[in-house]
Amino acid sequence: MIKLVGLTKSYGKTLAVDHLDLSVARGEIFGFIGPNGAGKTTTIRMAAGVLGPTAGQVFIDGIPMADRPEEAKRVIGFIPDRPFLYEKLTGMEFLRFVADLYGCGDGDFRQRAEGLLIRFSLYDWADHLIEAYSHGMRQRLVIASALLHEPKLIIVDEPMVGLDPAGIRMVKDLMRGLAGRGTTIFMSTHTLQIAEDLCDRIGIIHRGRLIALGTTGDLKGTALLQEGDLEEVFLRLTGEAEPPAGDGPPGQRGGP
Ligand SMILES: Nc1ncnc2c1ncn2[C@@H]1O[C@H](COP(=O)(O)OP(=O)(O)OP(=O)(O)O)[C@@H](O)[C@H]1O
Ligand SMILES: [Mg+2]
Repeated sequence: MIKLVGLTKSYGKTLAVDHLDLSVARGEIFGFIGPNGAGKTTTIRMAAGVLGPTAGQVFIDGIPMADRPEEAKRVIGFIPDRPFLYEKLTGMEFLRFVADLYGCGDGDFRQRAEGLLIRFSLYDWADHLIEAYSHGMRQRLVIASALLHEPKLIIVDEPMVGLDPAGIRMVKDLMRGLAGRGTTIFMSTHTLQIAEDLCDRIGIIHRGRLIALGTTGDLKGTALLQEGDLEEVFLRLTGEAEPPAGDGPPGQRGGP
């Protein structure tokens, strides 16, 4: 469903993503984890077609993003980490706007939009301006808007940030339900427990490179680690558990 081939992005001297190769199968929930600045958002934005790679290719359901971006993006529901919302629209108007962008603003739009608003506990807020929404409500609205055109692939950057426990549960259940019906989910998260609970496979990215890939069980069983939870695996692989030795101070790489 998603295939990244030699995907690379540099910003000046900073190599944000370094020859990444990755495939995610249909119906799979794939979680991308890595420390701050590892290259998760950069990878996700390239996969969603909103950022052009320096080198390498993105294929969505076999469609090359570089050559047929509109076709590829039609398959995707993209939920960015810092979504842009028009404050002066109501929730329902925003959904209509997004539906029109995807060319699915007619027919059963109203029914689908209402269904999503109910599911995301926003129905009572449908006719209120977005400027009055809390952070979590905005996040839920953005997720709802990404589902309007019934995408086969959902690409989501940090989906749980700002959600309360009920919101997290709602999104987890939603993702499991979607994956159960064949939707593919490609997500990044900082919350290792969420990755462990939700994802069929996990990739650990560090300094732009994929340094581990597999099920949680696989990762725990790597030669490096005989036991310990995902947090321990993560901290050891990314070297965050120990003070940096001979590797310069944290944040040295690629700083302005
Ligand atoms: N627009 C940009 N211009 C210059 N450098 C950038 C830009 N965007 C990202 N970078 C750099 O690319 C690297 C990867 O950043 P990215 O945002 O992909 O990391 P991330 O894994 O999403 O981090 P976080 O966990 O903090 O969200 C960092 O070194 C960052 O400073
Ligand atoms: Mg990020």
